[in-house]
Amino acid sequence: MKDLVKGQELWKTYKLDSTEVHALRGLNITVDEGEFVSIMGPSGSGKSTLLNMIGGLDTPTKGKLYIGGKETSSMKDKELTKMRAKDIGFIFQTFNLLPALSVLDNVEFPMRNLTNGEKLDKSSRIQRAEECVDIVGLTPRIKYLPAKLSGGERQRVAIARALVNNPKFILADEPTGNLDSEATANIINLLHEVNDQGTTVIMVTHDLDTAKDTKVMKIRDGVIES
Ligand SMILES: Nc1ncnc2c1ncn2[C@@H]1O[C@H](COP(=O)(O)OP(=O)(O)OP(=O)(O)O)[C@@H](O)[C@H]1O
Ligand SMILES: [Mg+2]
Repeated sequence: MKDLVKGQELWKTYKLDSTEVHALRGLNITVDEGEFVSIMGPSGSGKSTLLNMIGGLDTPTKGKLYIGGKETSSMKDKELTKMRAKDIGFIFQTFNLLPALSVLDNVEFPMRNLTNGEKLDKSSRIQRAEECVDIVGLTPRIKYLPAKLSGGERQRVAIARALVNNPKFILADEPTGNLDSEATANIINLLHEVNDQGTTVIMVTHDLDTAKDTKVMKIRDGVIES
């Protein structure tokens, strides 16, 4: 299968005053199209740094990163922003929903960032948002504000929002970190369903159970060890 993500000798060095922190130390990673990958490792080992880099929220200090065959490590911010909107769905541990917007409007929101050929009119955007809310089983809550939802429901909104632009892949940084075991199982099932439809999923997790039936990559001190 085709490489969707290819990272070669990735370094990320943060400078704080006179000290340097090497969050990634020459990390190599390949993710094929259609895979479900779990990234596991101790706190501070570089998991979020790697995920943010794959998602174009951050760039490597050294090394090359290719997404869908295109080198993103040398892209300018504007190009990265465009790639993020079109190809990538993000799910964060803390949901990051817009508090003043309803479930429907939160899910519709990323479609406003599409440019030129991909832009949809308002009624098409709403129709697509309704479809995604339905996929995550939240149609009965479609008019709710996030504050009225349970944690698991909020995370399902975040998944619907991540799906809405038909991304090539979904990046999830500890998507179940704040949830009880029932809500966790629900979210992981949803991610597997999305993956079964062909969307590549890359997830950071601390929990072995959550990583069941996925390809586990272990990261330690900024490199993948297995
Ligand atoms: N913006 C930053 N400036 C300076 N150092 C940073 C920055 N972001 C991350 N680091 C450092 O880089 C290292 C890797 O951080 P990262 O957030 O990738 O770890 P992680 O594996 O996601 O940890 P956790 O499991 O706790 O979320 C840590 O030592 C962290 O302190
Ligand atoms: Mg992290």
